[in-house]
Amino acid sequence: MANYLHGYDSQEQQRLIDQAGFLGPLIYPFVDYSGCKKLLEVGSGVGAQTAVLLGLFPELQITSVDYSEAQLAKARENLAAYSDRVRFVSQDAQELDLGEKFDSAFFCWALEHIPDPQVVMHRVKAHLVPGAKIHLTEVFNSTFYYEPELPALTHYYRVYNQQQRDFGGNPDVGAQLGNLLAHAGFREIELSRSGFHLDQSQPEELRRFVEFWKILMKSGAPGLIESGLLRPDEVKAMETDLDRLLEDENAVFFYQFVQAKATV
Ligand SMILES: C[S@@+](CC[C@H](N)C(=O)[O-])C[C@H]1O[C@@H](n2cnc3c(N)ncnc32)[C@H](O)[C@@H]1O
Repeated sequence: MANYLHGYDSQEQQRLIDQAGFLGPLIYPFVDYSGCKKLLEVGSGVGAQTAVLLGLFPELQITSVDYSEAQLAKARENLAAYSDRVRFVSQDAQELDLGEKFDSAFFCWALEHIPDPQVVMHRVKAHLVPGAKIHLTEVFNSTFYYEPELPALTHYYRVYNQQQRDFGGNPDVGAQLGNLLAHAGFREIELSRSGFHLDQSQPEELRRFVEFWKILMKSGAPGLIESGLLRPDEVKAMETDLDRLLEDENAVFFYQFVQAKATV
């Protein structure tokens, strides 16, 4: 298994559950599986999005694929109440081979970690029946913009994204979703953006998202420190910078992720 930016400890596994709850209102208005019965979820982690999907679409049976046994074990535990509607498969998405077809597919925060997302798109399409729907939600980290200048955050973010690239991933994969789907032969491709654009006109919302961002940034810290790319005091300085942003009367905090939907 390739190196993985966020790691697999229990704190990180809980972060994925919290993140799914926090960002759900931004993600799911775009997602519609009405009429679908058999969904393939790729890079399913600990089942945080799986739980949301099972709740929103009661007709769905879900096959969740992840290459980490640790994530799948946690997902089985988290989704024990849904054992008749979900099954888990340990596979590298780049070698996806399930021997069956689905009428829908779902990815969330997964393609950014995969060295060859184009191969994954081809593999997934080969597992879908004509007319099947696919939904993707992925990062576009170059869209992150903030004021005032925060040098420790800027440094941390640069190292965090570089680590993702060094691990073979792409922190801007969201920008490529339309191309990836088109090259794999999907049709009726639609792109959409969501995220946040916050300032002191909404101080509570600004604080909520800044606190969320700190946790997201720190999810990379254990690996970055272990690799010698950051020191613990640089992690602390990144958090202090984000606290300074909250106090700045001209604070701006902006980020966009990309969603795509398409049909086979
Ligand atoms: C950030 S987590 C997102 C999990 C879930 N989609 C969510 O939103 O909570 C990314 C997941 O993708 C998995 N992953 C990364 N590369 C993969 C690959 N090549 N094949 C299968 N799973 C992969 C990781 O093990 C991890 O569980």
